[in-house]
Amino acid sequence: MMMMIHKVSLLLLLIIATAAMASGQNCTRKCGSIDVPYPFGIEPGCHLDGLGLFCNVTESKLYIGNIQVIDLDVLNGQATVYKLISWDCNESYVDPKVSIPMDLTGSPYTFSGSRNKFTAIGCNTIALFVGATDQSYSTGCVSICNNKTIFANGSCSGAGCCQTSVLPGLQFFNLTFPAITGHKDNSWDNPCSFAFLVDSSWYSFRTTDLNETDFYYRNDGQVPMVLDWSIGDVGCEKATKYSTSYACRSNNSSCLNATNGIGYLCNCSGGYHGNPYVEGGCEDINECDYPEKYPCHGLCANLPGNYSCTCPKDTSGDPFLSACQSYSSSSSSSSSEHSSFTFLHDSSPF
Ligand SMILES: *[C@@H]1O[C@H](CO)[C@@H](O)[C@H](O)[C@H]1NC(C)=O
Ligand SMILES: *[C@@H]1O[C@H](CO)[C@@H](O)[C@H](O)[C@H]1NC(C)=O
Ligand SMILES: *[C@@H]1O[C@H](CO)[C@@H](O)[C@H](O)[C@H]1NC(C)=O
Ligand SMILES: *[C@@H]1O[C@H](CO)[C@@H](O)[C@H](O)[C@H]1NC(C)=O
Ligand SMILES: *[C@@H]1O[C@H](CO)[C@@H](O)[C@H](O)[C@H]1NC(C)=O
Ligand SMILES: *[C@@H]1O[C@H](CO)[C@@H](O)[C@H](O)[C@H]1NC(C)=O
Ligand SMILES: *[C@@H]1O[C@H](CO)[C@@H](O)[C@H](O)[C@H]1NC(C)=O
Ligand SMILES: *[C@@H]1O[C@H](CO)[C@@H](O)[C@H](O)[C@H]1NC(C)=O
Ligand SMILES: *[C@@H]1O[C@H](CO)[C@@H](O)[C@H](O)[C@H]1NC(C)=O
Ligand SMILES: *[C@@H]1O[C@H](CO)[C@@H](O)[C@H](O)[C@H]1NC(C)=O
Ligand SMILES: *[C@@H]1O[C@H](CO)[C@@H](O)[C@H](O)[C@H]1NC(C)=O
Ligand SMILES: *[C@@H]1O[C@H](CO)[C@@H](O)[C@H](O)[C@H]1NC(C)=O
Repeated sequence: MMMMIHKVSLLLLLIIATAAMASGQNCTRKCGSIDVPYPFGIEPGCHLDGLGLFCNVTESKLYIGNIQVIDLDVLNGQATVYKLISWDCNESYVDPKVSIPMDLTGSPYTFSGSRNKFTAIGCNTIALFVGATDQSYSTGCVSICNNKTIFANGSCSGAGCCQTSVLPGLQFFNLTFPAITGHKDNSWDNPCSFAFLVDSSWYSFRTTDLNETDFYYRNDGQVPMVLDWSIGDVGCEKATKYSTSYACRSNNSSCLNATNGIGYLCNCSGGYHGNPYVEGGCEDINECDYPEKYPCHGLCANLPGNYSCTCPKDTSGDPFLSACQSYSSSSSSSSSEHSSFTFLHDSSPF
């Protein structure tokens, strides 16, 4: 009996310790300049399953395994990482062909289908995106140049640069160049072709990217790519609120089905902001402090999860839309009234 009690209290202690660490005490929440908010964490007990990261303090760089992380977005379930560029160069190069695959199998991360584009740069280049180890999904793109090609900055549309979308939910890819890819028969000084999966809002083609020393070295051989992540392996329907493993810990938070297939994400309910994965993390928004986002041209009052906006005594109108009008304002336009109206108008912040 004593043994039993001892075991139970130990377990309790363990649970309390884990909860305390998860909520932030003694957990490192910054690596270099990058914030590491829960459900991510560096130390054991400081993160949810699968969302542990490594901080190399010497370099001030954050990693998922050996993949460098440059941004963590808790509310949108995304992480931005660096992806090494694959290339295919003139055979006179020391390493003429390098394919750098990436494998996230077994992790909560997938390559974002909405944020990334498979991109290749080069002339007379064929680049393939092999999206699964069993080759059940592949795609690719072609870039053709001849000595009459007109290139356009900002347009990755098959002249010097090509792009295509990829399926969401993938956890593996390899980038390859079929043997027919040429650096032959063209008068362009582009001895290399490059391929990568990239955050499409980051990459914009420049004709100077066809110069390998310019593009590859300017970017340190890597480009930003977006990963989607999610919690668990079931959607909101099955992730029950009453389970101890339910990740949406905060009051006034809600569950979202993950867009990458399995699992779920948490969000703060309307009128609340903060971190839904932390107890008490979703805090009431004081809407009156953000008049650009929550307009009020009258008397603003914060409410739990909302706000009210009313006209002051003896005035009327729709204060959410425009300033309230005084009941007693007359339609006569004497010069003194006109100037006082102008004065009021000038002093209004709207
Ligand atoms: C945090 O670390 C300090 C010093 O290392 C220790 O005294 C304290 O008990 C720790 N707190 C928790 C909640 O682990
Ligand atoms: C951290 O980075 C430095 C510099 O790149 C490296 O020498 C060291 O091995 C890394 N530390 C760990 C623990 O990986
Ligand atoms: C362009 O290429 C064609 C066919 O390869 C060749 O006949 C022509 O001389 C080239 N023109 C220039 C300006 O290099
Ligand atoms: C594209 O922009 C680069 C500089 O960013 C410039 O050197 C190049 O001439 C431009 N190319 C075209 C076709 O406008
Ligand atoms: C990636 O592609 C290269 C080139 O085709 C191949 O040599 C390599 O084995 C592939 N890697 C994986 C993990 O499939
Ligand atoms: C590779 O580059 C060398 C030197 O510029 C050139 O002589 C050779 O023809 C190129 N090979 C191919 C396959 O383009
Ligand atoms: C490529 O870039 C390097 C370094 O910026 C420059 O020296 C070289 O002239 C460029 N080559 C071409 C063909 O534009
Ligand atoms: C999550 O997905 C399931 C199955 O597709 C659906 O029935 C459910 O309504 C979704 N829940 C939310 C909160 O979107
Ligand atoms: C806030 O209050 C307004 C007006 O009562 C209502 O229409 C709106 O749905 C409320 N918003 C939330 C998030 O409760
Ligand atoms: C999270 O909730 C806020 C407030 O209700 C909403 O504006 C936002 O679009 C939601 N985020 C996602 C990813 O659905
Ligand atoms: C969350 O709501 C419950 C029930 O209303 C309440 O007992 C608890 O104190 C709240 N927790 C926080 C952190 O506000
Ligand atoms: C916020 O959470 C508390 C406690 O769970 C609840 O009483 C309250 O109604 C919630 N507020 C809104 C606006 O949903």
